[in-house]
Amino acid sequence: MIVVQSIEEARINISAVRKKDAVISFVPTMGALHNGHLSLIRKAKSESSFCVMSIFVNRIQFNDTSDFDKYPRDYDHDLALAEIAGCDMVFLPDDTIMYHDHHTFVIPEFLDEHLCGAARPGHFRGVCTVVTKLFNIIQPDIAFFGQKDIQQAIILKKMAIDLNIPVEIVIAPIVRENDGLAMSSRNVHLSPDQRKRSVSLFGALRRAEELIKSGEQSSSLIEREAREFITREGIPDRIDYISIVDMHTLHPVDTIRGKCVLALAVFFGATRLIDNMIIDMETSPQCVY
Ligand code: PAF
Repeated sequence: MIVVQSIEEARINISAVRKKDAVISFVPTMGALHNGHLSLIRKAKSESSFCVMSIFVNRIQFNDTSDFDKYPRDYDHDLALAEIAGCDMVFLPDDTIMYHDHHTFVIPEFLDEHLCGAARPGHFRGVCTVVTKLFNIIQPDIAFFGQKDIQQAIILKKMAIDLNIPVEIVIAPIVRENDGLAMSSRNVHLSPDQRKRSVSLFGALRRAEELIKSGEQSSSLIEREAREFITREGIPDRIDYISIVDMHTLHPVDTIRGKCVLALAVFFGATRLIDNMIIDMETSPQCVY
């Protein structure tokens, strides 16, 4: 596995690989790799001949500086895991390489008006800017993002279409712990007690699935049930949002039709966890979480 830090080195390696007609896949990350990331690398590798991963904790997407400061970083461990998962090249730039004298940003509209876009002002401007830069540096044929960050994946998919970036974006399933908690780099911040209570997010998704499969289509009723479930079972410090949105517009819906997403963001102490479930009503109700 090659590890490169500069944009020049990344470009030299990528153009050598391109000459061999390789299909290049890309998994952008902020490090602190867990099984969710590793499953993205394995999937990327199985669908390409050269798999690139980036590790860059992108300061400009954090609206809370303490969240940025305490974001877990262990690059040696990450590199060892990436290599085992089959990654061919890691791009590991620093802040100066990515943002020296930088004044140009990519700002999404409309799709960021609800969910994390509303709760974390500026977050998706940071994500879209860094991912555009990374796409321009790596020039992948195919890029992989996890369903856990569903708003991010949908915004980036639309960004690639709107800005004519020639990359196929794949949204891969959520990887969960045995008890259902979605894997996240932030889970390490949970105390043992918070960790137990955090399973309530998954429980709320399953409760919502039960209601939907029994014929319920009212968003407010399902959101209320999910909220009551998390409040009772999880005793969270704060519920940031529980919302059912249309999967294409990411705007709230009153009635579940077509494809929707039930998305949750909940605080346990200072740790903010997100989770979601895709609801497909097109044939018989299907829930993917
Ligand atoms: O999902 C993440 O880890 C980040 O938002 C990403 C896509 C690597 C951009 O910094």
